[in-house]
Amino acid sequence: MFESERDAGVYTAALVERIVMGEKDPVLGLATGSTPIPLYEALVQLYRSGLDFSRATTINLDEYIGIPGQHEQSYRHFMQTHLFQHVNIQPDRIFIPDGMAEDLDAECARYDKIIRQHAIHMQVLGIGVNGHIGFNEPDDLLVSRTHVVQLRQATVESNARFFPTLDDVPKRAITMGVQAILQAQHIILMAFGEEKANIIQRAIMGEVRTDVPASILQLHRDVVVILDKASASQLDPSVYLAGSQPTSSQLL
Ligand code: PGA
Repeated sequence: MFESERDAGVYTAALVERIVMGEKDPVLGLATGSTPIPLYEALVQLYRSGLDFSRATTINLDEYIGIPGQHEQSYRHFMQTHLFQHVNIQPDRIFIPDGMAEDLDAECARYDKIIRQHAIHMQVLGIGVNGHIGFNEPDDLLVSRTHVVQLRQATVESNARFFPTLDDVPKRAITMGVQAILQAQHIILMAFGEEKANIIQRAIMGEVRTDVPASILQLHRDVVVILDKASASQLDPSVYLAGSQPTSSQLL
């Protein structure tokens, strides 16, 4: 748990740096949204201090359907603005689903092939107020492969802050499935703010349920949860990592 989002971003960037420096061909699974912005700011700082991303491959979780990559609310544009244009990740090693693909099934299959070819060393995740990870929305079942998803009302409303009207918010997206997320060697789940406190409590301390998709992360053996005071406010303080206690899931 961190005092500020900035501190959390700096810490998380150090975890990512370890992968970028330690792996010959590092593969990072990346997320969009407000939450990872402090991480990307810190990674840009590390790049300016000499961290080399030239061998890194990045695979993003999701993309809206129906808005082109140049649209300022597309996730491609987000990544370009917050990270890619500032660091030396090679453009041909950047993967984001194409939300304008004519054949969406083929696009999902293409993306799964990319994921199979590049085993993800570290997956960065935010969490939706409804518990979604990527755009794997609460449902009776979770889909393992990359798929087209109809966004839930809570998600559309939450995303509306970035669009002129509710009607302009895309209602569908392509998202990586839960299999690819769970196959990542390391997972970092980030959440900030009071509005995430309840879902963080349910995801971490509650039952593993498909209507709380992030709870499936309890099944992974290497998840680091990065929180601020507000998002951690509904957790029992005894679950915080007390410095040296080795646990499979660390709450930081
Ligand atoms: P946020 O979105 O970081 O903008 O809160 C997180 C998410 O919906 O996964």
